[in-house]
Amino acid sequence: MIKPQKNVSLKAYNTLGIDVQAAFFMLINNLQDLHDARDFCRLQGCPWLLIGGGSNLVLTQDFVGLVMLMAMSKLDWTSHTDGLEVCAESGCEWDALVAESVTRGASGLENLSLIPGQVGAAPIQNIGAYGVEVKQSLRWVDVFDFNTGSCFKLTAKACEFGYRDSIFKRQPHWIVMRVNLQLGHRVAGNKPAQLSYGIIAHTIESMTGQPPEAATGQQIRDAVIHIRQSKLPDPKQLPNVGSFFKNPIVSAHQTAKIEQQWPELVAYKLEEGGFKLAAGWLIDQLGWKGYSQDGVGVHQLQALVLVATGAAVTGGEVLALAQRIQADVLARFDVVLDIEPRLFDSRGEFWLS
Ligand code: EPU
Repeated sequence: MIKPQKNVSLKAYNTLGIDVQAAFFMLINNLQDLHDARDFCRLQGCPWLLIGGGSNLVLTQDFVGLVMLMAMSKLDWTSHTDGLEVCAESGCEWDALVAESVTRGASGLENLSLIPGQVGAAPIQNIGAYGVEVKQSLRWVDVFDFNTGSCFKLTAKACEFGYRDSIFKRQPHWIVMRVNLQLGHRVAGNKPAQLSYGIIAHTIESMTGQPPEAATGQQIRDAVIHIRQSKLPDPKQLPNVGSFFKNPIVSAHQTAKIEQQWPELVAYKLEEGGFKLAAGWLIDQLGWKGYSQDGVGVHQLQALVLVATGAAVTGGEVLALAQRIQADVLARFDVVLDIEPRLFDSRGEFWLS
C-alpha cells in the first residue's frame, strides 16, 4: 500500500494560489490507489478531499486529512457512423480534450473551449459556456463510492444535471473516475454548431470574414478562446476560480420590479419560467468592478470573477470580499447570490448561507 506524503503545501494545486497544507497527500493514478486511499482514511479516521485542476476550489484552512490529486488521464476515442465517442479519465485536462475533439473533426465541445480544470470536474458542476453545457454530450460517468469502495456507472439522466449543478454536489462521497461523451461528426451535420450567443457569431464573422454558419470547429474554438481571453483572467497570471457566483434565477415579478429602477437589467427568460439574471451585471452596477484591497479584488473586465492580487491571500479573505458583494447585491436588488466554487475548511466542504 502506498504511503501518503506528509504536510504538503496545496498552493500549486488550486488556481487561487492559496497556501494551505494537507496533513497527508497522494496522487491517484488508478483504481487501486483509490482503494488504498480509502483504506488509509478509514485506518486514520481522517477526512479526504479530491483535487482535480483546483480551478473551482476555495481552501480556507490547512486540511487535517488526506488530499488526493487526480492523475488518471487516459483518453480512448472510438469512431461510429453517427459520430465520435470519447472515454476520458478524470485527470485529463478539459481543454486538451476539447482541442483534440476539434482536431478529430468532432462537434459538440467547441463552445466549451478554454474552460480551466480537468475532465472529472465537468459533470460535477455541469460546466457551460455560450449556450452549451456538458450534459448535452455526456452519456455516462464511472463513479467510485468512497464510502463503500464500490464502482458503478451513472447515466446522464441519473446525474440530475441542472445549471452548474448535478447529483455529485449532493453525493460528495462519489468520485468521478471516467466520463463518456458522444460527439457529432461535423461533416455529417450532426450536433450543429451552437451559435445562438450573438457574441460568438459576431466574433466568428470578424475573425474569418465569413458567415458564422460556415465556420469550422477550429474557427468556433478560436472565436471562443478569443472572447474568453479578452475578458476572463488567466489563472496562471492572475489567480482566480472563474465565476465566483452563479447567475441568480428569480421570478418574473421580481425581474419586473428590478427593471422599474434598473431598465437596463440583463435578464434571460427561462423556458421553465422565471428569469436568469446576469450576476456580473448586478455587481458591476454597484461599482465593484476593478475593486482591489488587501490582496483580493474584483476583475477589471468581468465583475463575476474575484481575483487574488496579493501574494499571500487566504481563503477567508476571498470569502470576506464575496460576502460583502453578496450583502450589497441583496441590499440593492433584493437578490441572493449563491457562491459557485466549492468551499473547504480543515475537515471538508462547507456552504455559506
Ligand atoms: N456583464 C456586465 N458587467 C460585468 C460582467 C458581465 O455588465 O462585469 C454583463 C455582460 O455585458 C452580459 C452579461 O452580463 O450582458 C453576461 O455576461 P457574460 O456573457 O460575460 O456571462 P456571465 O453570465 O457573466 C456565464 C458563465 C461563464 C461563461 C459565460 C459565457 C456563470 C456563473 N458563468 O458568465 O462561466 O463563460 O457565461 O457563456 O454561469 C464559470 O462558470 O467560471 C464561467 C466563466
